[in-house]
Amino acid sequence: MSETTLVQGLGGRPALAHTALGPRGHWLSGNLPEFKADRMAFLMDAVREYGDIPRFRFGRRITHLVHHPEHVRVVMQDRYQNFSKLSVGWKKLKLLLGDGLLTSDGDFWRRQRRIAQPAFHQTRIAAFARTMTDAAEEMARDWTVLADRGKPVDVAFEMMKITLTVVAKTLLGTDLQDEQAFRTVRWGIAVAIDYINRHIYRLVDVPGFVPTRGNREFHRAARDLDQLIYSIIEGRRRHGSERHDLLAMLMAARDEETGEGMTNLELRDEVMTMFLAGHETTSVALTWIWYFLATHVATARTLRAELAEVLGGRAPTLEDVPRLPFTNLVIKEVLRLYPPLWAFSRIVHQDIEIGGRVLPARSVVILSPYVTHRHPEYWDNPEGFDPRRFADEERIKSLPRFAYMPFGGGPRNCIGSAFAMLELQMLVATLAQRFVMHVQGGHSVVPRPILTLRPKGGMPMLLRRLTRPAGAPRTASPARIAG
Ligand code: HEM
Repeated sequence: MSETTLVQGLGGRPALAHTALGPRGHWLSGNLPEFKADRMAFLMDAVREYGDIPRFRFGRRITHLVHHPEHVRVVMQDRYQNFSKLSVGWKKLKLLLGDGLLTSDGDFWRRQRRIAQPAFHQTRIAAFARTMTDAAEEMARDWTVLADRGKPVDVAFEMMKITLTVVAKTLLGTDLQDEQAFRTVRWGIAVAIDYINRHIYRLVDVPGFVPTRGNREFHRAARDLDQLIYSIIEGRRRHGSERHDLLAMLMAARDEETGEGMTNLELRDEVMTMFLAGHETTSVALTWIWYFLATHVATARTLRAELAEVLGGRAPTLEDVPRLPFTNLVIKEVLRLYPPLWAFSRIVHQDIEIGGRVLPARSVVILSPYVTHRHPEYWDNPEGFDPRRFADEERIKSLPRFAYMPFGGGPRNCIGSAFAMLELQMLVATLAQRFVMHVQGGHSVVPRPILTLRPKGGMPMLLRRLTRPAGAPRTASPARIAG
């Protein structure tokens, strides 16, 4: 039986609400063991069994999953100020990202967002299209050698490399040519993500100051990353720069209300945030795109036909984006099925009623694009991969705003969504014209939902080179097509 409580409803009016129901758990750990055993299955089962707002206990923490689009809207938009990012996951990320946009809250977040927003305007982002295709062309050259050798390539790792290169060039104006710098960033971020992943859902956590191996490694990675980022910021401050990358935009940005710019520490936090948020999610999305193309031959064929007709083997440009609608459908469907940021959380500030359920102050709310994107009320055959569902514009327009939310929504939506979409379009269009990929035989692909939805054990694939895309005009240089 659920209890009834008088709480603050929408618009601040008092409302009667019931305690939400959920699976019984262990007296001490609650539902944490089942959740950790299979996170996505646990959440999907809970929704099936307990309806729209299932309730769990992770250790002492009361937690609700809010997944119906109308309820998500309350958390992310209508009453977003009643929810903070003080949950364990975000606090752990803060160890690396400090008070960057992703992890800060309240007035400070509002000010930073106001300053950073113009740097992500469509017209600014558009200037990065060329950097993105150049990075893909360079990767295509390396892949040509690998394809000819017939050796499997870990596409998850390759996508991490390329998105890191793109973010380094566009954000910091550095091509990380210095092998040491590239390794610092790659290693540092990998160590930090792994550390955060291991520490998010623990019943008892070892404090960061205890000199365990994990803590020491994390602090060393964070220190190396700090040194690198500060040296770049200071170099810019000393010598000035003609560059038009994101760092230049962030350094030049002034708060419209106060006229203030960012301090070195604020810049460091934002740069670290963009470094992480700007490459990890996009690389995960690309990895799944290659996976779905490898396993859905007809879709891959249609995509290649579109690329051949519009591009005929040349690199895509920004102007090509509206001419590649099928490519766009594939990207959207992959982001629906396997949203890279598959779940994230909030802490409730004051008791609130949502959907007739009470969410008490200090409890945790899980929001999950993965679960919401499978809501049977809005998605037919939700588990099926069907890019064409996004071609039905009437239907898509009729969906509530939060039925599809790979980039979140409301005031805290992803600031880099236009950047990410452009990067996905440019990289997919460049590489899919040159290579066909197959998952290496014997490797079973399993999503591993931790911070992001990476495939467990990477994505080993065999590459086959396409010498000339079907339909390519004869004038296209074969050398260019073959990379
Ligand atoms: C496919 C790629 C991406 C996905 C799926 C994605 C997803 C998301 C989501 C779901 C959020 C909201 C989190 C929340 O509400 O707690 C978010 C926020 C954010 N993302 Fe992305 N993101 C992507 C790419 C990027 C890129 C390329 C950048 C930067 C260049 C970026 C920077 C950020 C930042 C700074 C925030 C925090 C915004 C704020 O709270 O003001 N993201 N992202």
